[in-house]
Amino acid sequence: RQNERESLFIVLNFAKTFFQDTLLTSEEGQSIGLSYFRERGFSNPTIEAFDLGYSFDQWDALLKEATQRGYNRELLEKAGLVISKEGTDGGAQKLFDRFRGRVMFPIHNVSGRVIAFGARILKADKNQPKYLNSPETEVYHKSQVLYGIFQAKQAIRQENVCFLTEGYTDVISLHQAGIKNVVASSGTSLTIEQIRLISRFTPNVTILYDGDAAGIKAALRGLDMVLEEGLNVSIVTFPNGEDPDSYVRQVGAESFKTYIRENTHDFIRFKTDMLLRDAGDNPFKRAEVISEIVSSITRIPDPLQRQVFFRTTAQQLHVDEQTLISESNRLVRKQQ
Ligand code: GTP
Ligand code: MN
Ligand code: MN
Ligand code: MN
Ligand code: MN
Repeated sequence: RQNERESLFIVLNFAKTFFQDTLLTSEEGQSIGLSYFRERGFSNPTIEAFDLGYSFDQWDALLKEATQRGYNRELLEKAGLVISKEGTDGGAQKLFDRFRGRVMFPIHNVSGRVIAFGARILKADKNQPKYLNSPETEVYHKSQVLYGIFQAKQAIRQENVCFLTEGYTDVISLHQAGIKNVVASSGTSLTIEQIRLISRFTPNVTILYDGDAAGIKAALRGLDMVLEEGLNVSIVTFPNGEDPDSYVRQVGAESFKTYIRENTHDFIRFKTDMLLRDAGDNPFKRAEVISEIVSSITRIPDPLQRQVFFRTTAQQLHVDEQTLISESNRLVRKQQ
């Protein structure tokens, strides 16, 4: 087992280097991959810091090179780099590269080893997914990984807050703008393992999800879990249609930092506002909002924090603080 994991790390590292060399030294890599990154405003040091690469638009460029170097096919398959398909009518097995003609984003674990890849097509194409990811492997469990954690961990400790974004390019653009305490959940809803990973470095999380309905919904979905782990959660929302990457490129690093400073809101307060807006004047809906928020606050492990939230939320909802506390006690009894 241990040996197999080690072999996977080695072949994944080989692939990382191969994609980097392709990006930086091949004609195709430079004219397609590198110009793509340039258009997105990524500098050379940034490309280096994230080990970005490019995969040839061929069926077996990596497979050939890897085979020549003595990596066996089974290992390449187990690493998620190569796909094998049975030929039709019992024909011979066909092997081909998983990643072809895409810019490559290696995914590192906390200690900096490459465990998987995200790969983006260059031009929108409705017959292909925008991003293609490695499958689950012996060393890559998607639900346990946060993109960028290796590059971010020191800054997260230093700043004592972790910025949580949706995507690879959000992490990279913010890092380049000098905001390095940033990771991405990579488009999935947040898992308990990802939250525990963050809490190894800081108890404070600020969510910077995309400024669209999907982004806000995704953020709300993760909240209760994060609260249960005892993390302090804030949120910054962006103007409609912007994500951290597009916004920092639009306004520049300094204005972006100011924007963050002036638009960081406590997440429970944010959620209450959102739900209240949806409920309007309907008293039944407002009552539902109250019990939903109380349910969130009830999950906070720290009793002092809970008390503060009952007080501020009571003011926000124009209800009696004691009413919220009674409702909370009722919920706790119901669970037991
Ligand atoms: P850009 O378009 O390159 O700026 O990417 P983005 O990060 O802004 O993409 P988006 O907001 O659409 O999605 C956020 C994250 O979800 C991405 O960074 C990916 O990790 C993931 N994602 C997006 N589209 C796909 C997809 O088609 N397949 C998979 N597996 N993941 C995706
Ligand atoms: Mn494992
Ligand atoms: Mn989005
Ligand atoms: Mn986005
Ligand atoms: Mn984007």
